[in-house]
Amino acid sequence: MESIKIELAKNPKVKPTDENSLDFGSVFSDHMFIMNYTKEKGWHSPRIVPYGPLSLDPAAMCLHYGQEVFEGMKAYRAENGSINLFRPDENFKRLNLSNDRLCIPEIDVDFCIEATKKLVEIDKEWVPSAPNTSLYLRPFIFCHEPNLGVKAGDEYLFVIIASPSGPYYKEGLNPVKIYVENQYVRTVKGGTGMAKTGGNYASSLKAGVEAHEQGYSQVLWLDGIENRYIEEVGAMNIFFRINDEIITPELSGSILGGITRKSVIALLQKDGYKVSERKISILEVEDAHKNGELKEVFGTGTAAVISPVGILKYNDNVMEINHQEIGELSQALYDRLTGIQWGKISGPEGWVVKVS
Ligand code: PLP
Ligand code: COI
Repeated sequence: MESIKIELAKNPKVKPTDENSLDFGSVFSDHMFIMNYTKEKGWHSPRIVPYGPLSLDPAAMCLHYGQEVFEGMKAYRAENGSINLFRPDENFKRLNLSNDRLCIPEIDVDFCIEATKKLVEIDKEWVPSAPNTSLYLRPFIFCHEPNLGVKAGDEYLFVIIASPSGPYYKEGLNPVKIYVENQYVRTVKGGTGMAKTGGNYASSLKAGVEAHEQGYSQVLWLDGIENRYIEEVGAMNIFFRINDEIITPELSGSILGGITRKSVIALLQKDGYKVSERKISILEVEDAHKNGELKEVFGTGTAAVISPVGILKYNDNVMEINHQEIGELSQALYDRLTGIQWGKISGPEGWVVKVS
């Protein structure tokens, strides 16, 4: 691969002055990374350029048939001023899984890590340092070839944009209310649920809107075939603590293999907890709640970090969990994970990759 060409912004933007009031994903840094793919040349012309609109042909295939994949990762400002990425290799490996499912050409994982580091280094002033803030990074690939035939395209753009962000949920670490969806489904085994592709999120919007109208932050999806096994939440994986067993749905093909999920499982197992990746039905959760055995429920995700669930509503059953307080395990995991990400405590080898 050629070296990355750099064109710096002539008029840098004004950065948010109050880092403590950053929301999620609405402000963007000065630069973005771009590279092109054509059948003849493969991935080529990597460059970092000033952040700005992309010009698209109205017939660009992504606009019509949704051939798009993306990732979500963060750059964290450590106390000593250095900047960390968290398991970026996992993000780009997962991007290749998504690529494969969406018939998008493979990317080179090591090159993409280098490109991410370079972009963050150039926009280092945009990595916030207030508590619970980070520079959210959004790598994505889409087919921009103009053609109205339904087929895998031959031309793609890979872009990384960066957004200084605060908590994903307005609740922060406070417990969220989740609506167990009993009508719509997100995806099914054999579909695209294991890939991070826009269509999965598009199909989730209607249920999300209806859940919001009832005062719920997000939807918990059930499996698309029997409508009874728990899958995941709109932007995070989910864990249940029933007595001393910590259960998370197995990766059956229809849910995303979260990097936070994988990291949390590793940390819990290291500490000797019994962690089960298995099928868990909503009836099992209701029974455990009824019997006082459902101790904690929490979601995991890059944007959401560890997000305790205070209320789960399924049909007419409104289950209150842990008196809507942050559970002991959720808090401990939050502290541990963010401690590693912010470089306050050391984690397993290779999890933290320094940008500078
Ligand atoms: N599930 C969905 C649908 C997501 O969008 C995300 C966020 O990326 C996750 C789970 C959590 O994945 P990760 O921990 O890799 O961010
Ligand atoms: C992330 O956690 O990085 C995600 O991609 C979730 C996103 C849909 C907000």
